[in-house]
Amino acid sequence: PAPGWAIEADVVVVGSGVAGLTAALRCAAAGRRTVIVTKAGLDDGSTRWAQGGIAAALGEGDSPDQHLADTLVAGVGLCDEAAVATLVTEAPAAVRELIALGAAFDLEEDGGLALGREGGHHRHRIAHAGGDATGAEVSRALVAAVRAAGIETVEHALALDLLRDASGRAAGVTLHVMGEGRHDGVGAVHAPAVVLATGGMGQMYAATTNPPVSTGDGVALALRAGAEVSDVEFVQFHPTVLYLGPEAEGQQLLISEAVRGEGARLVDAEGVRFMRGQHELAELAPRDVVTKAITRRMLEQGVSHMYLDARHFGERLWRRRFPTILAACRANGFDPVTEPVPIAPAAHYASGGVRTDRSGRTTIPGLYACGETACTGVHGANRLASNSLLEGLVFAARLAGAIAADAGAAGDSPAAAAAPAAAPGPAAAPLPPPEARAAIQRVMTEGAGVLRSAASLEAAARALDALGLAEDDRKPAEPGAESWETANLHLVARALVTAAAQRAETRGSHWREDLPERDDARWRRHLVLTLRPGPT
Ligand code: SIN
Repeated sequence: PAPGWAIEADVVVVGSGVAGLTAALRCAAAGRRTVIVTKAGLDDGSTRWAQGGIAAALGEGDSPDQHLADTLVAGVGLCDEAAVATLVTEAPAAVRELIALGAAFDLEEDGGLALGREGGHHRHRIAHAGGDATGAEVSRALVAAVRAAGIETVEHALALDLLRDASGRAAGVTLHVMGEGRHDGVGAVHAPAVVLATGGMGQMYAATTNPPVSTGDGVALALRAGAEVSDVEFVQFHPTVLYLGPEAEGQQLLISEAVRGEGARLVDAEGVRFMRGQHELAELAPRDVVTKAITRRMLEQGVSHMYLDARHFGERLWRRRFPTILAACRANGFDPVTEPVPIAPAAHYASGGVRTDRSGRTTIPGLYACGETACTGVHGANRLASNSLLEGLVFAARLAGAIAADAGAAGDSPAAAAAPAAAPGPAAAPLPPPEARAAIQRVMTEGAGVLRSAASLEAAARALDALGLAEDDRKPAEPGAESWETANLHLVARALVTAAAQRAETRGSHWREDLPERDDARWRRHLVLTLRPGPT
């Protein structure tokens, strides 16, 4: 449908997690008229759910070089070292700037920052807030700053498609807004700079730590517009998610790596501590290693979950350090103070995404991406714990600088020339029926989850095609947020399955049962996908 209303701006930021809010604050501070559009409320994205914290070399004896080394090892040969160097060098200042903005991090008795430890880190370097509620505090501080700065926001607005000007530059986005005051229905924000910061795509799987809004919208929009995406096969499964039975679906309760950082142990169905001897860091091995070990043990023992044992913390430490997790476990009928709690891996984080340079530029002029939506190259095949909020902070700030520089170089595009990109978008293509979302989640969990093979990926590809969203002759769903989200999930799922089938090796969070070895000779490289633009 044609946009019924339009807002004019210099920058439109799509998404309101740590990356989007930081980008918006920086752009607004530089004097650019900035509009944030977000699919639910300002703090309804993944950031609010982040527990562990923000990694930065702030502790005594630590250094950005050591943080870099741990990040590269976790990324299993696929990190862009220059991008990682940028990330770790700018990390300490990024945390300090958040503190200056009003975020209250946990302190030691001497007033220094309390630093935790997580998987893959050889040092205590994770700054945290509220014990285990870092994301909630970061989100609170950033939302307050956005409100104080008077940045215009349009909530309950799902971005549909990229608008382009006559020269092909990004020129804004079309939106579907659900009952938001003066903006309702399909409209547009015209702006010569478009920032995608829509978070992840965990809702592609049946069980995930991601909230319901994580439906791959930014990556799907970028694909439809013809931008390059990279490394999408590397979806990370978090090792320790509270296991609530085989029927549990949707967002599940994360039990932070920081709990293992404090000394919690993983034990199997017979009470055996199985991470010992598997990796020099045992329970604190990088996330992909722990997830694989848990999955292997579950298969060997024919069980659906393992256990996390932190009884030795006692009530006091649990309450002080992990109050949110303690309360949530108890609310679900488990008491980690008195019993080992059941855990299993669940989809957690997209290490790949829309391909960008170190300043957030995508392959389409005027289109930028940051945070989980982007693939800056810092995560490689497996993100290091607590580098995600950090990436959002560091690269969103850099992106704001790039927007200023690019605006000076290119001049503003005439908004009047804006037209939808030459690709069939959700507004143009037949939309999937509502039941397709559950089918996608089932197919992806079975065929392209923690453990994959050529056969399982082929079956997944066939099943996704059979959902036949584009060619379907069944009556398509009514246009609306839910069906557009499902179209996005379907598109990113197809991209993931395509890449995972091509990558004929096991590396990081991409685990091929049929090809269990890492193949550096052939596969120490990135898979870059683009969708050929279709007819308008
Ligand atoms: C966690 O707290 O375990 C999650 C941290 C992360 O995903 O980096």
